[in-house]
Order: sequence, then structure tokens, then C-alpha cells
Amino acid sequence: MQTSTSGRVDISLGERSYSILIATSNFDAVSSYAHLQGGGSALIVSNETVAPLYAQRLQDALQARFKAVHRVVLPDGEQFKNWQTLNLIFDALLANGCDRKTVLFALGGGVVGDMTGFAAASYMRGVPFVQVPTTLLAQVDSSVGGKTGINHPLGKNMVGAFYQPQLVVCDLDTLRTLPQRELSAGLAEVIKYGPIADLAFLEWIESHLDALLQRDPTALAHAVQRSCEIKAWVVGQDERESGLRAVLNFGHTFGHAIETGLGYGQWLHGEAVGCGMVMAAQLSCEMGLIDAAYVVRLTQLVQRAGLPVVGPRLADGDNAGRYLELMRVDKKAEAGEIRFVVIDGPSSAAVRTAPDAVVRRVIDACCS
Ligand code: NAD
Ligand code: GLY
Repeated sequence: MQTSTSGRVDISLGERSYSILIATSNFDAVSSYAHLQGGGSALIVSNETVAPLYAQRLQDALQARFKAVHRVVLPDGEQFKNWQTLNLIFDALLANGCDRKTVLFALGGGVVGDMTGFAAASYMRGVPFVQVPTTLLAQVDSSVGGKTGINHPLGKNMVGAFYQPQLVVCDLDTLRTLPQRELSAGLAEVIKYGPIADLAFLEWIESHLDALLQRDPTALAHAVQRSCEIKAWVVGQDERESGLRAVLNFGHTFGHAIETGLGYGQWLHGEAVGCGMVMAAQLSCEMGLIDAAYVVRLTQLVQRAGLPVVGPRLADGDNAGRYLELMRVDKKAEAGEIRFVVIDGPSSAAVRTAPDAVVRRVIDACCS
């Protein structure tokens, strides 16, 4: 395990390559990075919770490099990850006379990051952007890999673009102010990397979960570093999810159904993913791909992380039918057929279809 609290991970994507810088007191890294086109203007995009905590520090770090540093503060919450909020970013860009060289800085969790990235992909057909993730979930997953976008009332993350940031700056100190529920939500995406790719990391998470929950800086630094390494390895091979990258969606097919079915913001994304992983593991077991002991092992880990392991009911009557209906609106679905990320070994994942009857059995077994 890494013993220091600083590290760096490089994403290799040809001319779209970039680095993830991980450290404590790291905000200054945004201005010292040579390839940013400083001199013009910058727009910090944040939300009403994160801006009062960190926007001034980021602005101070950027002031030396940019002639003008503007800010836009969005409402906070998954329910605001929509067109209306996205437009606030375009309003700020236009009102401040921002041009093609303006650099957007996404300061916040995955909601701010996904929306800022989508705004950067679309404003004047593309301006540079930097991710400054302040949640564990955003540091280990959403700030990396270039998936950007917004939700639609009928489907999660259904409108967006692949658009890579120029740099990701993870300041581990920001995790100190994160509510405990949000820390747990981030742990869902950390846990995810074990069963899909790295058994040793799964074992490390199992033995360091208490340290992570207590925000031990060295443990958090290792979790962010290893998660980003795995994600970088996957994204480097399959940037646009034509195959391998889908494994990063382990737990997400069930999870997205939970988020959409309950209404965005009821369950946190990480909570839905945590429970979704339990359901996807159960499905893998039903399909004969893993044994029941492995399902129990994952369920216990998810539960210890402070995440729900029993799915919510999404309908009074045919609950499984409602899940199936929601899961058909998924980016992995093809010709109306749901494709699930399943576990087919201790640290190996695959994408498979499953008969509705089997999926129904899993939902019935996993829901309250
Ligand atoms: P979030 O962005 O809603 O942040 C969680 C909460 O924590 C918010 O209330 C936020 O204001 C607050 N917060 C953020 N940083 C804080 C800090 N340092 N101190 C105190 N409060 C802080 O949620 P999230 O879990 O970061 O991200 C979830 C989103 O990310 C979902 O929309 C999901 O779809 C998306 N996502 C995207 C990808 C991707 O590859 N693009 C991957 C995973 C998830
Ligand atoms: N979070 C899934 C992905 O980036 O592909």
C-alpha cells in the first residue's frame, strides 16, 4: 500500500492524454500545470454548498494565471442535473464574454463535474476544462474518463458527450468536509473496482474499510490512487465504451433504475450503485457465474461501508416489472434487451443478457 498522501496517474489517450494529480493542499496544482492556456479567462463552476467552502481558494490559485476569473454557482443536487441548470453555465459564459480559450473549472462532486464537462464540450463547440473533484466519488470515478452529461426525467445520464478534461486535481483535504453519507456513497465506486478488476484491491478495501470510514489520509490517498489507476487502464483501452469500459458500470443498471424510479436525489448515486452491485452479484450467482459465498462477501462489504443492500420498491404492484421497464432505458441496452455487467470470477466482469424470469427472481429476492 502507498504510504504517502500524494500521487499521480496518467491517462493515455493520444492527444487527449492528461494527468490526475492527487495530494493534500493541492489547489495550487491547477495553476502550475504548464499546458493550460492561461492568460485569458477562467470560469469556476461550483454549487451553493461547495463554493462557500472552496471557491475562493481555487480563485486565488487561478488569479495569477488568468486575466479574469469568473464564477457561477449552481443549485445543489442530483435533481438539478438538467437542461435548466446547464443553461446557467452558458448564461455565465456569455454574460462574461468568455471565448474559445476560456477554461472551465469544475469544482464539486460528480453532478458539477458532469455538467461542467458537458458545457465545456458544447460551448463554442468545445472549450478546455479542468476537473477539481471534491467528493470521494468524483475523485475515484466521475472526474476521470470524460463522460459528461445530464439526466432526463425518463433516464439517468441519457444526454451527454464524451469529452476529456485537460487535467484532474484531487485535493484530499476537501474530503474532510464531506458528509459521512457522501463518503459512504463514494466508497461504493471504490469497492466496484475490486470485483471487476483487482482482487488484491478488494482485499485491501476489506481490511482498510474502517480507516477509510474514519478518513485516514493515507488510506484515502491509496483508495483514490488505485481507483484512478484502474479507471485509467480501462479508459485507455476503450475511451468510448465500445466494449471493455462497460465493466465500470457494475451495479449501475440496477442502480440507475433505483435513482430514476425513486426520483433523482432520493437515494444518492453511490447508494444506488452499492445496492445495485449486490443485485448484480446476485444475478451473477443465479446465472451460475459466481458462488453464493462471493455474493455474501460483497454484500457484507457494501453494508459495512454504510450503504443500503436491500433494494427499494419502485411500484406498489409489479415491482420487478417496473425495474425491468426502467432498466430498458439504459445506454447499454440494445434493441430493448437489457445488458447487465456480471461478475464471472473473483475479479473479472463481463456484459451479459439474462432472461426476464431470472432478473425478476433477483429483484424479488433483493427488494424490500
Ligand atoms: P454530488 O455531486 O451531488 O455531491 C454530493 C454532495 O456533496 C452534494 O451535496 C455536494 O454539494 C456536496 N459536496 C461536494 N463536495 C463537498 C465537500 N468537499 N464538502 C462538503 N460537501 C461537499 O454527488 P457525487 O456523488 O459526487 O456524484 C454523483 C454524480 O456523479 C451522479 O450524477 C452520477 O451520475 C455522476 N457520475 C458520473 C460518472 C462519470 O464517469 N462521469 C461516474 C460516476 C458518477
Ligand atoms: N463511471 C463509468 C464510466 O466512467 O465509464
